[in-house]
Amino acid sequence: MILFKRAADLTGYLEKQRAAGQSIGFVPTMGALHQGHISLITISKKTTSLTVCSIFVNPTQFNDPKDFQKYPITIEKDIVLLEKAGTDVLFLPQVGEVYPTGTNDLENYDLGSLETVLEGAFRPGHFQGVCQVMQRLLHIVRPQHLFMGSKDYQQCMVVQRLLHLMGLPTTLHPCPIVRESDGLAMSSRNVRLDPEQRFFAAAIYATLQTIRQDWPGPVAPLVEKATKMLEEAHFRVDYVAIADRNTLQPVRDGAPKAVALIAAFMGEVRLIDNLEL
Ligand code: PAJ
Repeated sequence: MILFKRAADLTGYLEKQRAAGQSIGFVPTMGALHQGHISLITISKKTTSLTVCSIFVNPTQFNDPKDFQKYPITIEKDIVLLEKAGTDVLFLPQVGEVYPTGTNDLENYDLGSLETVLEGAFRPGHFQGVCQVMQRLLHIVRPQHLFMGSKDYQQCMVVQRLLHLMGLPTTLHPCPIVRESDGLAMSSRNVRLDPEQRFFAAAIYATLQTIRQDWPGPVAPLVEKATKMLEEAHFRVDYVAIADRNTLQPVRDGAPKAVALIAAFMGEVRLIDNLEL
């Protein structure tokens, strides 16, 4: 695995690889890697001939400063995992390399209603930050294929829109959610849960499965039952939503192509998950 810290060096290297006929797959991450991230590398390796991973804790996407300060950093372990998975290139930039003119007064993206529903509503500015960093990373890497986890369902939709806004020919591949044995979606934030919280955290997936079993049922009582299940497991619920897969707008009872999405706090740790119905 080749490690790059400078954007210009990486761009130069990838230009040569592209000219030599390599197809480039890109897996952007914020590090503290787990098997969910590694699954994206594995899928990229099956689809492309050169896999680039980035590790960059993007300051502009944290609407909660505490979340940014406490974001886990495990770079040495990450490098071992990436090497083992057969990653070709790791991009590990400093903030000034990604944002040469600083992180104030950055550009704004028209994300339509994606910015006002669910994560957009509960994390103001978050998706602008995701677009700001993804625009820069995509400009540096220029991948043919981009691999992202459908755990961050709305993020995949936002990045699809960004690709369209940027006019890039990159194909986005939303990849399956990798889970722990009790169903908890793997997340870098899970290490911040104490053993008791970790035990109760599995209730998110159990709740999503209950929604799926009861679907198609009337939406309002289903959401109420799900919220109760989460609260009994000591979650503080941001939202339980049953939404249209294409727009993330609320669905009517029994609508086709629905997805259930949950965001909830276990102590100080905010977890999200979803399941297509
Ligand atoms: P991060 O949370 O590190 O996630 C990096 C990628 O891993 C995202 O595409 C995410 O959806 C995927 N991922 C996380 N947990 C997963 C799981 N359990 N199963 C499958 N995939 C999983 O998402 C970000 O970073 C950032 O917002 C980023 C896109 C890098 C922009 O800064």
